[in-house]
Amino acid sequence: MTSPINAAQVPPPPASGQVMILITELNPDGEGWQEHCRELPANEQERTYRFRYAADRLRFAKCRLMLREVVACWQCVTKNEITFRFGKNGKPFLVQDHGLQFNISHTTGCAVLAFCHNHEIGIDIEMTRRNTDFEGVARKVFTRREQEMLMPLTKSEKRKLFFQLWTAKESLMKATGLGFSLNPSSVETFLPKYSGETGSFTSQNLPTANAFQVVEIPVSPGYQSMLCAPAPVMGKSPLTFTI
Ligand SMILES: CC(C)(COP(=O)(O)OP(=O)(O)OC[C@H]1O[C@@H](n2cnc3c(N)ncnc32)[C@H](O)[C@@H]1OP(=O)(O)O)[C@@H](O)C(=O)NCCC(=O)NCCS
Repeated sequence: MTSPINAAQVPPPPASGQVMILITELNPDGEGWQEHCRELPANEQERTYRFRYAADRLRFAKCRLMLREVVACWQCVTKNEITFRFGKNGKPFLVQDHGLQFNISHTTGCAVLAFCHNHEIGIDIEMTRRNTDFEGVARKVFTRREQEMLMPLTKSEKRKLFFQLWTAKESLMKATGLGFSLNPSSVETFLPKYSGETGSFTSQNLPTANAFQVVEIPVSPGYQSMLCAPAPVMGKSPLTFTI
């Protein structure tokens, strides 16, 4: 049977010093998860079935299959020859990486896959239409300075800044591989001022935080995405493809 990912759409691998982002739509009701799932190896099919909802099954299965197919295409192997190892907090890496690093984020309706060579990266995407107690969550996860920036804003400005700060922080938590073992309120985020520019981080709990930069990734309206990477790969704007 033919694969759900069209190999002709896979762009050439990122050049050295360049981050590549692949953006893909996910059917919000999860329809079609089975056709992605059945292309995965047995352990990943089992993991797909452990998710209760079809939407979550699709998020995992489609992204994992895309990842396998893209890397297989770049490394001239079959998708089932790709194997993963996992860091202490669950960050996946390629076993046969040939220097290739990646990170994935998925939310209802959209996923982003980031790739580059020789540097650990992190990416996050969130759907911004959902309602959250922005102020209540900000008190728990933002620094005092970030809260002071957020609180005086109008409701729509608050929503925008909340998701910008949140995705920036989560992209750092993912770039370092620490995930939520890093307290988000211990990281101060300096957002990029203009589209295409990079922002930065400081943290007393994470002395390496200032080695990372953050840049906004343009995605569809209703979504917010940020990429975090060390300065050497932020010199060039990330290349984005929607497939
Ligand atoms: C990584 C983490 C921040 C992702 O949060 P999320 O908003 O739910 O999910 P996203 O869609 O942005 O990212 C999920 C993807 O990140 C990747 N990922 C998993 N753990 C990761 C980590 N520690 N660092 C970076 N990336 C990670 C995976 O590829 C995962 O997708 P997959 O399982 O479908 O392959 C969160 O799950 C986490 O912190 N996990 C680690 C658990 C941990 O450390 N717990 C400590 C006790 S508090």
